[in-house]
Amino acid sequence: MKKLVDKHNRVVDYIRIAVTDKCNLRCFYCMPNEGIDFVKQNQLMSYEEILRVCSILSKQGVSKVRITGGEPFLRKDIMYFIKSLSEMKGINTIAITTNGTHTLKHLDGLIKYGVRKINLSIDSIDKQRFFELTRRDLFDTVWNCFVELTKHDLDLKLNAVVIKDRNIEDLIPMVGLTKAHNVSVRLIEEMPFNGKGANYTSLEWDYKKILQHLEAHYGKVIKLNDDKNSTSLNYRVPGHTGSFGIIPAYSRTFCGTCNRIRMTPLGTIKTCLYDEGIFNLKDLIRAGANDGQLLEAIQSAIGQKFRDGFVAESKRKKLPNISESMTTIGG
Ligand code: 5AD
Ligand code: SF4
Repeated sequence: MKKLVDKHNRVVDYIRIAVTDKCNLRCFYCMPNEGIDFVKQNQLMSYEEILRVCSILSKQGVSKVRITGGEPFLRKDIMYFIKSLSEMKGINTIAITTNGTHTLKHLDGLIKYGVRKINLSIDSIDKQRFFELTRRDLFDTVWNCFVELTKHDLDLKLNAVVIKDRNIEDLIPMVGLTKAHNVSVRLIEEMPFNGKGANYTSLEWDYKKILQHLEAHYGKVIKLNDDKNSTSLNYRVPGHTGSFGIIPAYSRTFCGTCNRIRMTPLGTIKTCLYDEGIFNLKDLIRAGANDGQLLEAIQSAIGQKFRDGFVAESKRKKLPNISESMTTIGG
């Protein structure tokens, strides 16, 4: 088996697949409230097409798949897709990122198919602030989802994007959840992908400021060992059961160990969060390419993977207006 290696000697063994761009929330940093052009059904990668890509990658050492969106549980027959993926040789970790509004009805299936890694996006644990951030009144549903998930043997992470003037009051109570719960609360630097083209060149609430803010309340926290390809800097408050992580998504300190690529709902392959898409795999598939040709195209894209997110961003043609949204990038 020939592994997928880029020119900076990083092995790619992980793909993040956005299965839909649709979402039932409207997190203001992610999506505009209205006027969104959702992808048409026939433009979406079909499950068969996605499974074919996964099968090709699994033979080259890709062993982990994260399913993202939009909100993945909004796509029809998502459990059929997850079941098929769980039966695929070589894929030994399936993870999912969800907003928790439609997750619970699929929990039995997730457990049955071995999906233990669940990232629940929840940017506030205050009902009113949650509403202001997501523009939808679904806090109770999401909170109930969190409570239910903690009752199962899962690798549960809570993701919150840290946004100035919006949810800073949540940081301390959210980390407070790790006292009683064996979860990891991850605080994410905001990235300039909000579907509107808003751009910025500096970030006030960066990972250093987030840590300082927490230590001012909790005192010195314990640095944990981070996994090899971790995007988060991980800590524990002394005496707490769970842990917390800070993700420097804007500061991009983790690129050196990047082991992942992304595929958008349209089938565009991205080798970096910050690139504008390297090529479209769906077009190749629908033009009749065979597995060898698809692999060659993927290998060539990985070969050119940018050293880090700053280089990727600087190579974008559409600078300086990054008008993508995470609903099409897929977290
Ligand atoms: N900056 C940082 N994180 C974001 N997410 C969505 N948009 C942004 C952004 N602009 C996060 C979501 C979710 C994950 C899929 O990506 O909150 O946790
Ligand atoms: Fe939906 Fe996630 Fe975007 Fe919020 S951040 S609108 S939950 S896709």
